[in-house]
Amino acid sequence: MGEVIEAGLLEGVASTTVKKLHKAGLVTLESIAVTPPRDIVELTGMGIDTAVKVNALARMKVDPGFVSASDMLEMRKHKLRCRTGSNELNRILGGGLETGVITELIGEFGSGKTQICYTLSVLAQRPVEEGGLGGRVCVIDTEGTFLPERVVQIAEARGYDTQEILSNILIARAYNSDHQVLLIKNLPQVAQEHDVKLVIVDSMIGHFRGEYIGRATLAERQQKLASALGNLLRVAEAFNLSVVLTNQVQAKPDTAYGDPNKPTGGHVMAHACTHRMYLRKGRQNTRLARIIDSPYLPEEKIRIAITEAGVTDEDGTFPEWDDDSPIQEKE
Ligand SMILES: Nc1ncnc2c1ncn2[C@@H]1O[C@H](COP(=O)(O)OP(=O)(O)OP(=O)(O)O)[C@@H](O)[C@H]1O
Ligand SMILES: [Mg+2]
Repeated sequence: MGEVIEAGLLEGVASTTVKKLHKAGLVTLESIAVTPPRDIVELTGMGIDTAVKVNALARMKVDPGFVSASDMLEMRKHKLRCRTGSNELNRILGGGLETGVITELIGEFGSGKTQICYTLSVLAQRPVEEGGLGGRVCVIDTEGTFLPERVVQIAEARGYDTQEILSNILIARAYNSDHQVLLIKNLPQVAQEHDVKLVIVDSMIGHFRGEYIGRATLAERQQKLASALGNLLRVAEAFNLSVVLTNQVQAKPDTAYGDPNKPTGGHVMAHACTHRMYLRKGRQNTRLARIIDSPYLPEEKIRIAITEAGVTDEDGTFPEWDDDSPIQEKE
């Protein structure tokens, strides 16, 4: 992942500074570019002026600013898509979970948000040729609901080596919103050290909603949330990995028509998440899934099921990697 920086690669930066960066685990341009200067100070102990400088230099090297639309199309071809466990779900997602962006799973309790996360944490590890992302998974669990037993069950049902799957999932329990923000700040280092290709935050909003109560604190909460989401988006882009967030719904009693349930987190969440999937309970073990507010995906409602294999198609079947369903974009 990325080129290891040597002294001299960042013009005008002293070799002692490069050493400090290396010691803090910031060894590639990408990781320096996505770490805000204040965090670089915290991690390395260097002065803020130096931190601002190395961050700006690294960003210039990684991101030259304007790019042509043809270059952008070329970059987008390197995007990967992680299959989800259901052909139908893959289809409405445009082939699977996209890398480089944030995908948000929205729904009330029991709607299947965490079940989709479990399934993805198994499938993202599969090689790219098999519809996975070929990397490790990092889970930030804010509710203490992410259980390894369920991962084992899904991996077994799908015929994978459970020990290997488990060892490639890094789980951090976030105890409050400050802790959650800190874990998110550390992601560039974790992503780089462990070759992470999928980051899950389940749930993104829970702590924020619990801690910031009342109108007076709303602005502060939204600001903190926006900054954490910004960090997540930068990591997604810089490391070409997928970010999945879960979010609950809140009843809006003043809704005159349509669904009274709205995702929490307001415009800040809506703006940061490229793809938003709305989940609802259906009959028996099925769930209804629909993409909302997408820049290019259709708003089609489909049905999936939750079984011992995690998320599957409605009839309980799931795509095998070698069937010819259009899972992975071919380059
Ligand atoms: N092994 C399993 N086989 C079949 N269904 C299961 C299995 N495990 C869990 N489920 C179903 O998944 C549901 C829970 O879904 P999930 O935990 O994803 O909800 P959620 O959307 O994350 O809710 P919350 O907002 O409370 O976190 C259970 O009600 C159960 O019906
Ligand atoms: Mg859950």
